[in-house]
Amino acid sequence: MFEEKLLNEIRDQFHHVDSCPYQGPRAFFENAGGSLTLKSVVTVNAELSAIPDNQGRDNPASHELVRIIEQARADAMTLIGASSGQIIVGESGTELLFRLVRTAIVGSEEGGSVLGSTLEHPATRSASRQWAEKTNKTHVLIAHDNQSASINSDDYKKHITPDVRVATIIQTSPVTGMGVDIAAVSKEIRAVSPECFIIVDGIQHAAHGGIDVDAYQIDAFTMSAYKVFSKHNYGVAWLSPRMAAMEHEKLDGSADLQWELGTRDTSAYATFSEVVKYVEWLGSNFTNSTDRRERILAAGAAMSEHEEGLVSAMIDGVDGQRGLRDMPTVQVIGGHDNKHREGLVALVVEGVPSADVVSHLNNDGVRTHVRKNDYFSGNILEPLGLDTCIRVSMCHYNSAAEVKKFLQSLEGVLPA
Ligand SMILES: Cc1ncc(COP(=O)(O)O)c(C=O)c1O
Repeated sequence: MFEEKLLNEIRDQFHHVDSCPYQGPRAFFENAGGSLTLKSVVTVNAELSAIPDNQGRDNPASHELVRIIEQARADAMTLIGASSGQIIVGESGTELLFRLVRTAIVGSEEGGSVLGSTLEHPATRSASRQWAEKTNKTHVLIAHDNQSASINSDDYKKHITPDVRVATIIQTSPVTGMGVDIAAVSKEIRAVSPECFIIVDGIQHAAHGGIDVDAYQIDAFTMSAYKVFSKHNYGVAWLSPRMAAMEHEKLDGSADLQWELGTRDTSAYATFSEVVKYVEWLGSNFTNSTDRRERILAAGAAMSEHEEGLVSAMIDGVDGQRGLRDMPTVQVIGGHDNKHREGLVALVVEGVPSADVVSHLNNDGVRTHVRKNDYFSGNILEPLGLDTCIRVSMCHYNSAAEVKKFLQSLEGVLPA
């Protein structure tokens, strides 16, 4: 795990790390609902929001706005390890995923199928179902594995046929916290249906580092800014050259590869550059390399290691406080030991409604979230026969002391 000095330096770069402006002191374990925001993001956002000029004019302000956008696109490509293709910004992760899925389904060869899994967020599941139906393609949803709360390439393999036109893959579930090996799944898809359009939802994974788009052999990758240390109101997507060239909505007469509709918010782009700068800085603490990508990869590895430490403190206890493994009335979704887990523990307390547990934790200054059997989480909870669960989502800036605070508070709500 991070040394105390570094952890303090990390925490110092974010707003509201240990205190909520509306509640007071609290530990933040609601990162899957939206990560903490970098202070630099807020500063840059305010500065650029004040600029009245528009892009595409011949004046110094406009030139600078265009430069900022181009720089941010290059930064995003480096963050995700993409050496070709293009970056666009949209209204949200959901909006981008709908647009990408729709464009791929409508633009791909007639007939055939659209393949996804029950692990996915409703953004890809809904878009795939709706557009497959409208275009007379079959929609196949592969069931994820209840035990591991994840899905793997073998699960996909059984359902891949040469006529799969579009496939969606979620990189990490925001309900179970379990990751999926994107490269392995896409390799299986490409082996049977080489021309398939593969769209990846990287929204939950992005804050946990280690994205390698070139290695994935995919056509689109999406992130949500507010879930990766930036602000609400925009999502970021990468499109492969092939995807970018597909027929898509655009203004008549605009450039062939123009995907963004209307004027972009330069501050959105600028804040994403701040995210990349931060990740690069974090990595510089773990490698002597001055290469940006190498630093970003080092940051990803360090984040994973720290988060594994937090998870193990939560499961096995910390500093004399017992962990979830030793609490017989606590059920952990996906089991105590799961190599796919990315900093998130979803749990149920036997005999206590999850909403009551979350509210008890809140009263003790520990922020978590209740997930219900609704259109967001029913795909995970229903097969487990659960109505609700408590999601405790951590990130690399959380500390073992915060995990202890959570466990201590949880003790107070366990049935006798
Ligand atoms: C995996 C995943 N996909 C999609 C979304 C939707 O993203 P947005 O809120 O930007 O529309 C989320 C949001 O939490 C998510 O976790």
